[in-house]
Amino acid sequence: MIFEVHGLYKRTCRCIVKRRKLLQTFVAYTALGAGRLAHGNPLVPTGSDVEGPYYPVQSLPLTSSLLLNEQALGDPLTFSGRMLNTSGAAIPGLRIDVWQCDARQAYNHPADGSQRDPAFRGYAAQISDVDGRFVFDTIVPVSYGGRPPHIHVKIWRNQQELLTTQVYLEGYRGNDHRKIKPVKAAHNDDKYEAQFDFVV
Ligand SMILES: [Fe+2]
Repeated sequence: MIFEVHGLYKRTCRCIVKRRKLLQTFVAYTALGAGRLAHGNPLVPTGSDVEGPYYPVQSLPLTSSLLLNEQALGDPLTFSGRMLNTSGAAIPGLRIDVWQCDARQAYNHPADGSQRDPAFRGYAAQISDVDGRFVFDTIVPVSYGGRPPHIHVKIWRNQQELLTTQVYLEGYRGNDHRKIKPVKAAHNDDKYEAQFDFVV
């Protein structure tokens, strides 16, 4: 009897051990699954930011340049990047509006009475290409009114506004997840380049 009870105890133990192994296997599998999710982590959508008071009142021209001519003040910058979804796939056909102040710290907007750089339009729009890419010729942003240097961005799918945000110059305060770091262009020492991918 005692043996049988002991046997029952042993069988119960074996059963518990099996269950533990199953549980460990399940936990390991779950962890592996989580690891796979972590490895193929969805991209974090780009955070939004305030539009500010100087969104252009005119329709933004579909052009790659915020400059009106080569006489524009400031350090020339090629600002480029891609439109991605959270899976990392390119999104073609999105419109990206970009606007920023000129080297004199003035926006091309009737609410900004500062003296403007006449060679700098200060805004432009592009449609992301088949690879989700966009590119703008502009200037390295400058600070104004105590704000860190930044470029305003608004992204549209047709008439639907998907995102309004700002990207900030590296080395200044501003959202750490939305920084650009202009570097000298390899082919042109007088020009800077900076990239940023937007996830929407
Ligand atoms: Fe601004």
